[in-house]
Amino acid sequence: MEDGRPSAPRFVDADLLIIGGGMAGCGAAYEARYWGRDLRIVVAEKAAIERSGAVAQGLSAINCYMGMRWGENQPEDFVRYVRNDLMGLSREDLVFDIARHVDSTVHLFEEWGLPIFKDPTTGRYVREGRWQVMIHGESYKPIVAEAARKAATEIVEHVVVTHLLPDSRDARRVAGAVGIDVRDGRYVVFRAKAVIVSAAGASHIFRPRSAGEGYGRTWYPPWASGSAYGLLIPFGAEMIQMENRLVVTRFKDGYGPVGAWFLLLKAVATNARGEEFEKTRLPELRERVGAYADAKPMPTCLRNHLMLQEIRDGHGPILMHTERVLDTPEKEALGWEDFLNMTVGQAVTWAAQGIDPRTTPSELILSEPYVMGSHAVCAGAWASGPADLAPPDYRWGYNRMTTIQGLFGAGDAIGGSAHKFSSGSFTEGRLAAKGAVAYLRDHTDRPATPHPHRIAELQGELFRPLDNFQRGRSRITAGSVHPDYLQPMSGLQRLEKTMDEYAGGVGTDYMTNETMLNRALENLTALRADLARLGASDLHELQRAWELVHRVWTAEAVVRHTLYRKETRWPGYYYRADYPKVDDEHWRCFVSSVYDRHTDAWTLSTRAYRPIL
Ligand code: ADX
Repeated sequence: MEDGRPSAPRFVDADLLIIGGGMAGCGAAYEARYWGRDLRIVVAEKAAIERSGAVAQGLSAINCYMGMRWGENQPEDFVRYVRNDLMGLSREDLVFDIARHVDSTVHLFEEWGLPIFKDPTTGRYVREGRWQVMIHGESYKPIVAEAARKAATEIVEHVVVTHLLPDSRDARRVAGAVGIDVRDGRYVVFRAKAVIVSAAGASHIFRPRSAGEGYGRTWYPPWASGSAYGLLIPFGAEMIQMENRLVVTRFKDGYGPVGAWFLLLKAVATNARGEEFEKTRLPELRERVGAYADAKPMPTCLRNHLMLQEIRDGHGPILMHTERVLDTPEKEALGWEDFLNMTVGQAVTWAAQGIDPRTTPSELILSEPYVMGSHAVCAGAWASGPADLAPPDYRWGYNRMTTIQGLFGAGDAIGGSAHKFSSGSFTEGRLAAKGAVAYLRDHTDRPATPHPHRIAELQGELFRPLDNFQRGRSRITAGSVHPDYLQPMSGLQRLEKTMDEYAGGVGTDYMTNETMLNRALENLTALRADLARLGASDLHELQRAWELVHRVWTAEAVVRHTLYRKETRWPGYYYRADYPKVDDEHWRCFVSSVYDRHTDAWTLSTRAYRPIL
């Protein structure tokens, strides 16, 4: 090739291919080895699994733990909690399935060396809140990754996976995936009998509040490029709840977490006048969402909503009163460690802004929206549920299999089941792997990989941004100004501007309507057409180019779903100004979409919500 990059593909064969080595992917590798001693298990990861995924920087709490051995909670309690937090809508079979297994996952983490806070008198884990336990978790991910490294046959790192491959005889069956080694530029072709997608949800779909040199500072990490959706959607997997984007309450500028402050330290947040607005605004909230306003605990989106109303009314900034709760050196240490374990940038923000949390309250703010399926939202694929729990129309195959044969998901990839967090995502990886191994036992034939001609054609497509740049670079006029190609960063800013202004970002206080969403679709359609002209000056930019492609697929799904759901189910996450109320009569159901790559058409419909309790 013209720039000397290797031209021969590297083939990697697997029985089970796991795409993404975050918490869910590590769980999948671990469990697949347990059930499939003889199998070739391959993990593909675009970074290095010791520091990849949302947990890369560490965590200060594990947010999903039942504590069944101490009789603290039962899976039924958790199902009710998640149903409530998601305003009545949840894949309860999947939620229950995680809840009944998640404790065993946390016990494994402890066995592997993760320090969990313990009460010296009772020996129990120290609770942050009802579902959360405190950890010394800076090295959480390296500890978990070690188990995956021991379990997998091969971990292929620094390879960004761009597309799934279909069986050449059956387009509804998966046969592997392709990607690019971002170190040596080699084209990598994975041939597999079953695939688990455990890639991430997405930051940088909506324009972040951070600007200029802080642009990369978001809550969900900037490397979470929506590949869970960007791989599944164009392949034709059915998706649900893509409209259910997440807005989080965070410490301003550093995106520090609030859970330990609210739940463990019992700090309160007030408006600038010192009023506890969650109480004073309750009557107004009842007006909007009815009985959901009195649900206990108050759903995450409604807490956001109340804060937003305060800010809109000019009562901001919202203040977290750290100074009222840090009355001992132990509590102060806990407060700092909370940030240092998972969001070092917030401790730096305190230092840089001269904030002493013992004397000064800190500002809270609502983040830009993120698209994900593991925190307090549930975007992702429509998946087959567990045999003993799933209603008949929620089950068509193996646990966590998508609507594509042999294609499974876990973590952010699976929809309808929120509040997995780190431990639940690892647990769902385990469940998906068990399902995938059962599938492999029943389907011993190897799917037919696409014809060599198609493999070569895809290679051309993957590397086209490098070629576009090579061809166009002679016409660069100054700096990076050029008429011939779209740089990944320019494309990203175009995407974020559209999503922010039309699809409910911070620029409109999360407000959107039918006309705005249709405008967003027009812009996204034009952007999608321009993606064929992406230009990348090196392998680093080539990865950015493909991350942008995945983000654009994710964004389009978000817009189409938001357009389809004619209500405002989650005020505080987003508002349909033309349908401002919760409408249980018509919309207590899942919104589903399927993209058809042959016709380039999306089909949207609804799926029934079926409570299992
Ligand atoms: S984290 O995911 O980055 O750790 P955060 O610290 O805000 O987020 O939340 C941790 C956990 O506390 C989550 O389970 C979240 O739902 C819960 N949580 C945070 N704030 C509150 C609150 N005010 N009331 C109830 N639960 C809360």
